Amino acid sequence: MRQSAEFFAPYAEIIPDFAAFCSALHTLPPCCLRVNTLRTEADIVRARLAQYGYRIVPAPFAAELLLVEGLTHPGTLREALLGYYHPQALTSALAALILAPQPGEGVLDLCAAPGSKTSHMAQLMRDQGLIVANDRHDKRLAMLEYNLKHLGISNVVTTCYAGQNFPLRHKFARVLVDAPCSGEGNYRWDARGRLLHYRRSQGDLPRLQRQLLLRGFDLLAAGGTLLYATCTYNPAENEAVVQALLEQRPASLQPIPLQKVPHAPGLQHWRTQTYDARMEYCWRLYPHQLNSVGFFLACIRA
Ligand SMILES: C[S@@+](CC[C@H](N)C(=O)[O-])C[C@H]1O[C@@H](n2cnc3c(N)ncnc32)[C@H](O)[C@@H]1O
Repeated sequence: MRQSAEFFAPYAEIIPDFAAFCSALHTLPPCCLRVNTLRTEADIVRARLAQYGYRIVPAPFAAELLLVEGLTHPGTLREALLGYYHPQALTSALAALILAPQPGEGVLDLCAAPGSKTSHMAQLMRDQGLIVANDRHDKRLAMLEYNLKHLGISNVVTTCYAGQNFPLRHKFARVLVDAPCSGEGNYRWDARGRLLHYRRSQGDLPRLQRQLLLRGFDLLAAGGTLLYATCTYNPAENEAVVQALLEQRPASLQPIPLQKVPHAPGLQHWRTQTYDARMEYCWRLYPHQLNSVGFFLACIRA
């Protein structure tokens, strides 16, 4: 507990019930499986896992998301090999549900690898229409391509641009900017107090995130929807990045159209910074409020 309180002390003022937040970091969330509805149905996966003795609880906001207690190696079950599900953090799965791509649409996933959200969007689109899945790193794109094949997805083409320079030739009905970030939301401690899933930040992330979000907006068709997502608590990578977009483009920050998801609103102040009042429409997802990894989401329209 003391370790997490020290580690996250800079956020003690902005995280509601900071003590509960710190203690949540010392527990592990249930395994979340996203049922691959292109191959099977949630009830079938549920029944098969129940036969193995697992206790399964559906997520309150999506029938295809199953929370499985005690499942530590989800990739080893027969159902995983059959492509019946994809393990994915509950908060990560919110992104595609909020962006809600429709069959037949053109969608851009600007930072897509290894493809959890791309594959979720593909299944929401019933594998119809087109997703352009871009990532700067070709080795990570190979993982994305493997995942798509495994899940039976065919409506995705991949590209390997630095997202901030993605060509401005086409506009898309929906754009996802799931930005590279410091990954603080993934920090958890195990029973021996070891920090798990630590990812060291590299370079000037807020600058890159601002560039990616601006480019994502410039690639959005009129009336289209853009979702900005990170798995960090850092306001410099979240609200400040959205603020820069609002100041530089005619972007409209929107309330997130999803019910039953415990969250805190985006910040309007952080240290010496003041942000647009509409920042309250953003979602900050904390592990003591929704038992998953930390996340930030902002829904924007052109
Ligand atoms: C948070 S991860 C994306 C996770 C992915 N959306 C998913 O759900 O599986 C961020 C990704 O951004 C990629 N990336 C880093 N810098 C980039 C850039 N300048 N342009 C595009 N992608 C970049 C990284 O390779 C990484 O795969």
